[in-house]
Amino acid sequence: MSVKKITVPGFCELAARGQKLTMLTAYDYLWAGLMDQAGIDSILVGDSLSMVVQGHSTTLPVTLDEMIYHGKMVVRAVHRALVLVDMPFMSYQVSPLQAVENAGRIIKETGADAVKLEGGRIQSETILAISRADIPVMAHVGMRPQAVRQLGGMGKVQRDEQRLLDDAKAAEDAGAFAILLELIPQQLAQKITESVSIPTIGIGAGPHCSGQVLVGPDMLGLTADFRPKFLKQYAELRSIATQAVQQYVSEVQKGHFPDASHSHS
Ligand code: KIV
Repeated sequence: MSVKKITVPGFCELAARGQKLTMLTAYDYLWAGLMDQAGIDSILVGDSLSMVVQGHSTTLPVTLDEMIYHGKMVVRAVHRALVLVDMPFMSYQVSPLQAVENAGRIIKETGADAVKLEGGRIQSETILAISRADIPVMAHVGMRPQAVRQLGGMGKVQRDEQRLLDDAKAAEDAGAFAILLELIPQQLAQKITESVSIPTIGIGAGPHCSGQVLVGPDMLGLTADFRPKFLKQYAELRSIATQAVQQYVSEVQKGHFPDASHSHS
């Protein structure tokens, strides 16, 4: 059965028609394929892979080559969803020229539909340069995990209304096709959403955004000990997988597996 691929204009049209947009992060073929078949609208190869997959304590260490490596796996699995790849720390902050070259590498080498980068007003020249190269770009404003050193930690709700409204407007004016809003009070996220004509995708930003994103392994209950207020866990896969591995270990040790029904004669 052939499915209709969601393009960047198609993604924006869904929002314009009032449909809430859905997005999850995924980092490999297995999970991206499952999410795509389950009907997700968009998949973000987030730089959260630095923490979730690679085990670092921040998103700073993941490299551009590693993002591209994971982006390729995700694109290979996806038939319908829009695929975005995060531009990792220091792959765009140096100059708009550096950003265009690296966004170009992401699109050429992975086949993804769009890139995402952190920043609004401060990255407006860069957003303009990338979109002028015909590469769709999503801006990420509010709590910016790549600014962890400046912010003194992740997870702080961002409340500077004028600055956030200005960041969103600057991103839109520079050509961003959508804006991710992270950790912003719900009333302010609503105000931002009403102040721009491009879709907003919230995480920890309440119900009034054009859409919602969560980190896939967090909402599936695969990650350990991460329960921020904004996270809803839709499954407890970590405990189910742990029990399965424990049962396998026990059955192999006791000689119960493999049995005759799982053996060739
Ligand atoms: O990398 C990531 O997972 C993100 C989240 C905010 C969705 O950017």
